[in-house]
Amino acid sequence: MANPTPSTASPPVAERLRRSVVRTPLPPPDDRGRMKLVMDSLVLHLHPAKVARPALKLTYTFGLGGLLILLFLTLVSTGVLLLFAYTPSPDAAYQSMIALQTQVNFGNLIRNLHHWSANLMVVVALLHLLRVFYTSGFAPPREFNWVIGVSLLLLVVAANFTGYLLPWDQLAYWAITVGTSLLGYVPVVGDTLTRLLLGGPEVGAATLTNFYALHIAIIPLAIAALVSFHIWRVRKDRITLPREVDRPPDKTRVTTIPHLVSIELVYALVWLALLVGWASFVNAPLEEAANPAHSPNPAKAAWYFMGLQELLMHFHPLFGAIIIPGLGLLGLLSIPYLQQDMESAGVWFRSRRGRWMAGASFLLGVAATFGWVLADEYWLDWPGWLPFLPSFVSNGWIPFALLLLVLMGYYELAKKLGHTDCEARQALFTFLLAAFVTLTVIGIFFRGEGMALTLLGR
Ligand code: HEM
Repeated sequence: MANPTPSTASPPVAERLRRSVVRTPLPPPDDRGRMKLVMDSLVLHLHPAKVARPALKLTYTFGLGGLLILLFLTLVSTGVLLLFAYTPSPDAAYQSMIALQTQVNFGNLIRNLHHWSANLMVVVALLHLLRVFYTSGFAPPREFNWVIGVSLLLLVVAANFTGYLLPWDQLAYWAITVGTSLLGYVPVVGDTLTRLLLGGPEVGAATLTNFYALHIAIIPLAIAALVSFHIWRVRKDRITLPREVDRPPDKTRVTTIPHLVSIELVYALVWLALLVGWASFVNAPLEEAANPAHSPNPAKAAWYFMGLQELLMHFHPLFGAIIIPGLGLLGLLSIPYLQQDMESAGVWFRSRRGRWMAGASFLLGVAATFGWVLADEYWLDWPGWLPFLPSFVSNGWIPFALLLLVLMGYYELAKKLGHTDCEARQALFTFLLAAFVTLTVIGIFFRGEGMALTLLGR
């Protein structure tokens, strides 16, 4: 077919109008104007130009995701400063901490800021996970971002754990010894994994080198990469809009500058002030120098592993250290892929009934866990009652099967009471959350000498 001959007709009216517009160049911005342009374009690289008004409500996100970014930036900047004073060798690490605290200007403040921000980050990451869970913020298309979030939580814990060893004091040495011993229970590859992480059969100079490399380079880089991906996904998928039951979300949009940015700025400044205030008065712990020959009594893991350590006191290690935590993690990762009730996205606790059920499940979970820990301490004796069975059956399979029966019964009960699948799953999650929190509290505050149950760890 022949090419159409180019048209010689004059361009359409709109085009002629566009061409006729005389573009008067803007006057060049002064220094303040230029600064504002740079800042605005930086903000608009990180945020969309407009955001939904309801997403600005502080009682929806509580700003927890933003707080995590602030804490990460604080950790990176204080961490870099700490590198100037710290020596990663067993002979010098402890002394370098003492010198940092006593001879370096603001050294103590910087260490305190780093320590407390790191611990706060574990708590805030968990709270952010709970906020997302209880508002169904993981519903499609955000399923994969939930998985990225769970990986971030694990990395935040790993960053804390590897940092714990660096001061090389008694607390650090023994908490890492207890913590890494859990890895040995992984079937088949447990010993190889432990040796790989420790760089030998026990915590020593090679462990410090390994943990140092993981702590200052590998884990922070992995967190930075995953956070960038996480935030990019939040921007693409947009944040789930909060709403009341039976009401569509308010979709009014406002400009990011100044509406969102001013809130973020005030929020960040308030948190920075609180952090600096706290770090000025409360010192990060530092005990005597590590002594591999003298184990403290009780020898406890870091606080975020106390729930696991407590679980190990009631189950055979294969179940306490591997099967139960492994299934817990698998369950957490699969939450967004289970059948979803899309109606509940953005509604706190799915519904009014869901809220009541979640509250009741939490209280029940706390009471049941306390009751079970007491019963196991003073009455239950599976291996003694069933001496003919191997201990991984009497103290593993049997209590584990009972636990599964209780959980299945609870789920069915929630459904019999008229709750939807989604609300029943929320009830189960809340029950398990309460159990984990209770085990952690018991481990931290109610275990004393020889890990016996005592009042407030005495
Ligand atoms: C270093 C850790 C993390 C950072 C810096 C981070 C940052 C953020 C930010 C800034 C948002 C926007 C809304 C908000 O502030 O709530 C967000 C949303 C989200 N986060 Fe995270 N997050 C982290 C960890 C997690 C974890 C542990 C989970 C869950 C397992 C998670 C899952 C999600 C999901 C699914 C959304 C979208 C929620 C919605 O649309 O309502 N994040 N995150």
